[in-house]
Amino acid sequence: MRRPLVAGNWKMYGTRHSIDELLSGLNAQQWPEQVDLLIAPPALYIQQCREALGQSPVRLAGQSCAWQAESGALTGEVSPAQLRDAGCEYVLVGHSERRSLFGETDEVVCRKFAAALACGLRPILCVGETQQQRDANETAEVVGRQLQVILERFGVAGLAQGVVAYEPVWAIGTGLTASPEQAQEVHAMIRARLALLDDEQAQRVQIVYGGSVKAENASALFSMPDIDGGLVGGASLNADEFGAIARAAGQVQ
Ligand code: 13P
Repeated sequence: MRRPLVAGNWKMYGTRHSIDELLSGLNAQQWPEQVDLLIAPPALYIQQCREALGQSPVRLAGQSCAWQAESGALTGEVSPAQLRDAGCEYVLVGHSERRSLFGETDEVVCRKFAAALACGLRPILCVGETQQQRDANETAEVVGRQLQVILERFGVAGLAQGVVAYEPVWAIGTGLTASPEQAQEVHAMIRARLALLDDEQAQRVQIVYGGSVKAENASALFSMPDIDGGLVGGASLNADEFGAIARAAGQVQ
């Protein structure tokens, strides 16, 4: 059985003060035991989160990382080794905002995935199609291409050291959620594609859904057979809402 995973991506939100409040709210939550929980704060505030979370089951993730594992002359970047040193266990790679706004290609995403693994971080590989690509019936092809570069280099076993996040671009920050059936269809397609290469490993890979996940739609999404939890943006900035989403993941059998 795969463990569900619920991750909060705080994106570029928060100040020291607002993050203190959010952390107090998180520390007041009842967390389900059987769910992997993590937050990805802005890098600047990882230390603050680490100190406030203490023994909490909520783990830390970076939102992105450099494509090089160790230190180097890369102004403005944060290396996977530095994220690890700061207490992170995971890092997002290939979020659609990084792909579309910062020009990250599949090659760059693959280098970041490799650098993360080399440092013992679990990369969360984000994949997903735009509205235009969905309308043109290209979802399988687009998502397949985004996975392919990682599979060619690392195989399914390498991918299984990380997590896959299916985040349809049209559902991110728009309030438009993929229906549980729409999301399940893509998750099942991803798993089937992995299973063709290595069925045993494919059954182990956590595939989480992202795109306007909220407390009110979480249960329906997480009860689908191939949806192993969520990558939550906006709703993760509210501790009670994030807590409710985590508990929804804990209630799914
Ligand atoms: P929203 O939950 O705000 O739609 O964001 C999803 C996302 O991008 C998580 O990485």
